[in-house]
Amino acid sequence: MSSSPFARVEQAPPDPILSLADLFRQETNPKKVNLGVGIYLNDQGVNPVLKAVKQAEKLLLEQETTKNYLGMDGDPDYGRLTQHLLFGADHPVVKDKRAATLHTPGGTGALRAGGDFLRGVLGVKTLWVSDPTWPNHKGVFNAAGLDVKTYPYYDAAANQIKFSEMTAALAKIPAGDAVLFHACCHNPTGIDPTTAQWKDMVALAAKGGWIPFIDFAYQGFGGEPEADAESVRLFAGAGVGFLVANSYSKNFGLYRERTGALTLVAADAAEAGRVMSQAKLTVRANWSNPPAHGGLAVKTILMDAALTQLWREELTAMRERIWSMRKLFVKTLKDKGVQRDFSFLEKQAGMFSFSGISKDQVLALRAKYGIYMVENGRINVAGMTTGNMDYLCSAVADVLKG
Ligand code: LMR
Repeated sequence: MSSSPFARVEQAPPDPILSLADLFRQETNPKKVNLGVGIYLNDQGVNPVLKAVKQAEKLLLEQETTKNYLGMDGDPDYGRLTQHLLFGADHPVVKDKRAATLHTPGGTGALRAGGDFLRGVLGVKTLWVSDPTWPNHKGVFNAAGLDVKTYPYYDAAANQIKFSEMTAALAKIPAGDAVLFHACCHNPTGIDPTTAQWKDMVALAAKGGWIPFIDFAYQGFGGEPEADAESVRLFAGAGVGFLVANSYSKNFGLYRERTGALTLVAADAAEAGRVMSQAKLTVRANWSNPPAHGGLAVKTILMDAALTQLWREELTAMRERIWSMRKLFVKTLKDKGVQRDFSFLEKQAGMFSFSGISKDQVLALRAKYGIYMVENGRINVAGMTTGNMDYLCSAVADVLKG
């Protein structure tokens, strides 16, 4: 080609999380350990397909009669069952039909649809995220045309939320801006607000007139799914209009099936209907209508009592294995003579911990031991196993000495 239209395209920077997964695949160290991308691994180091999902997929394969498009908002039962998981089946938001739910390609699709709705339908210009947050939030919301700013969240020295700084910042956010929260299992820090702190934030939203947007990617990884939904239910109970993006990647293990939902909570059923009509247009301009398979698997499980029970047991087992790895990691480091106190890991919830391991130490762990974690020191605790713990803790002890 004499002159390529792409000649001036520059090399993009690597994605801080997904590029690590590529590097890990290429890593040749036979003892390699993946604590990077947030996927659940079992004690054999394998990301399993849940038994409940396998059974639902078998039923789907037998019973599916068409590959016709779903509606722009996806399968209606899936939307209804998603609302039950978010709010509880008897919540007034559900009973009074105040919520509009779109079935989306993953939690990321839900965030993007929400961002497009905020920008395109409501005319919102700025969205505030916690410092730090999941790095892709900025990419998704910038792509939707929103300016992304941060509010204080994490106090690294004390391993806790900077709550008074955070509320002081939230109190100054102009009405009409949007504010993103993590419902539970904050990514990357693993530190969540208490009930009392959530109540303060709900009150600030009601007073300040900004729009809460809750990212809910880890329901069931902090505690029971209902307990993890506390923040969502507090906002719903306060009569504040808000958005929730939820994902079934982690709690149903449906990562590659891209299964999520965006729910917009309105003042009444008529408003929710108008909101849904506009939300469908944002979908039409993006992916037109969602992929069916993962959503239909979730629906099949949630419509069947025995499959729901099996799913809940499997979710509990995943959560408890992560808790046991947190404890074992802290204990093994101590046994290896590491002086630094890592006991804060046992107070954090979900897959992630902000370990306090520096960027240089992260890079040393990668180069010397084939141990992968995000450069900011975030570790995916779900990548630890009883088999790799000794190797991992010896390596961490070594780089902390250096
Ligand atoms: C993570 O934070 O590792 C996960 O949410 C996966 C992703 O898409 O980044």
